[in-house]
Amino acid sequence: MGIHHHTVTMLSALRTTAARRAFLRPAAVTAVASRGLSIWSNVPQGPPDAILGITEAFKADSNPKKINLGVGAYRDDAGKPYVLPSVVQAEERLLSKALNKEYAGITGVPEFPKAAVKLAYGANSPALDRLAITQTISGTGALRVGAEFLQRWYSGEKKIRVPSPTWANHKAIFKDAGITSVDYRYYNKETIGLDFDGLVEDLKNTPPGSTILLHACAHNPTGVDPSQDQWRELSKVFKELGHVPFFDMAYQGFASGDADRDAFAVRHFVEEGHKVPLCQSFAKNMGLYGERAGVFSVVGADAEEAKRIESQLKIIIRPMYSNPPIHGARLAAEILNDEKLYKQWLGEVKEMADRIITMRTLLRGKLEKLGSKHDWSHITNQIGMFAYTGLTPEEVAKITKDHSVYLTKDGRVSVAGITSSNVDHLAQAIFAVKG
Ligand SMILES: Cc1ncc(COP(=O)(O)O)c(C=O)c1O
Repeated sequence: MGIHHHTVTMLSALRTTAARRAFLRPAAVTAVASRGLSIWSNVPQGPPDAILGITEAFKADSNPKKINLGVGAYRDDAGKPYVLPSVVQAEERLLSKALNKEYAGITGVPEFPKAAVKLAYGANSPALDRLAITQTISGTGALRVGAEFLQRWYSGEKKIRVPSPTWANHKAIFKDAGITSVDYRYYNKETIGLDFDGLVEDLKNTPPGSTILLHACAHNPTGVDPSQDQWRELSKVFKELGHVPFFDMAYQGFASGDADRDAFAVRHFVEEGHKVPLCQSFAKNMGLYGERAGVFSVVGADAEEAKRIESQLKIIIRPMYSNPPIHGARLAAEILNDEKLYKQWLGEVKEMADRIITMRTLLRGKLEKLGSKHDWSHITNQIGMFAYTGLTPEEVAKITKDHSVYLTKDGRVSVAGITSSNVDHLAQAIFAVKG
């Protein structure tokens, strides 16, 4: 009774719930331990990652004709992971330099982000003089740092508008930075194309000064991008309403095979005076997936503003991970800053993009040849690594069960997983479940 009374008195003296919980915790922990339970026994099992789950199921399948179209990584025509020859050369050069492994600064290996922003904004962009720039842990890290920057320093609503659908990780990244995602219309199920009118209407019905996430090119998961004219129109709508375009560019060069063309949206918005935040990834276009080479930048009004922004990016990064990994950044810098290697790399990106475009044409042609009654023009109209087939979740379950074709249940296929040796089986399987 005495102890109980003492506890109640103590608790009422503690003003906040957090403080009360902290006071009670030792007792709870002792109780758990005395029952022989682990202190982590209250941790629930989380759901598996949707895409990694597909790979697991694929691995366990013994059908020799099985195809994995789940993973968003490039494969060559033999279905193998691809290390770009320009990357191999850069690696050899680095080795011969015998560099040390000291820490990079908070904003990374300086030669890398500096060259990366030239690739994105254009080598002659006037915005280069008023950019806040930092290297990041690939595109995901750029988004996370960018989200944190918005959360701390954007004076408008702590909300980001995202296309419906969008890359599965976007909402989780923003949520962890304290920003709520709200969908805007983007994809039209009926046309398997862009819902441009719906998109513009939603932008107009969003409070002025909202932050809007845009996929700069090769929209993931739909492969549906606005045309250049539509981007021009979007820029005008953004300007009228004072919306902030937050660009995610994870596929520069990978969409059309031309890095300048794929940067059209970003460059046009910048030319039109928008102060864009931009996330870049070199995972796909340099095949540097696990090296985690990315960049986050913000266009400021002038150099002085950019400097202030960059100081805040450093304050965000320092307690999060101190400084980024150096190897991937050195590789990318070696390629981007050497005229010969750079040219070679552009050719290799184009080869990857072209192989994907060829697979789209092959798949569509084979479906038409089989006598499919559906219109498959979206397969060749869509762009980038992914195609939205229009397969329903039931059809996806059936194609996996009956034909060992693995894809996400939204009907998205990674076109990079299609090869000249598996495209026949794929077309026959789609035809069998869809007609
Ligand atoms: C739209 C989009 N943004 C960002 C990323 C980030 O990838 P990473 O963190 O590997 O650079 C991806 C990767 O799939 C993506 O599809």
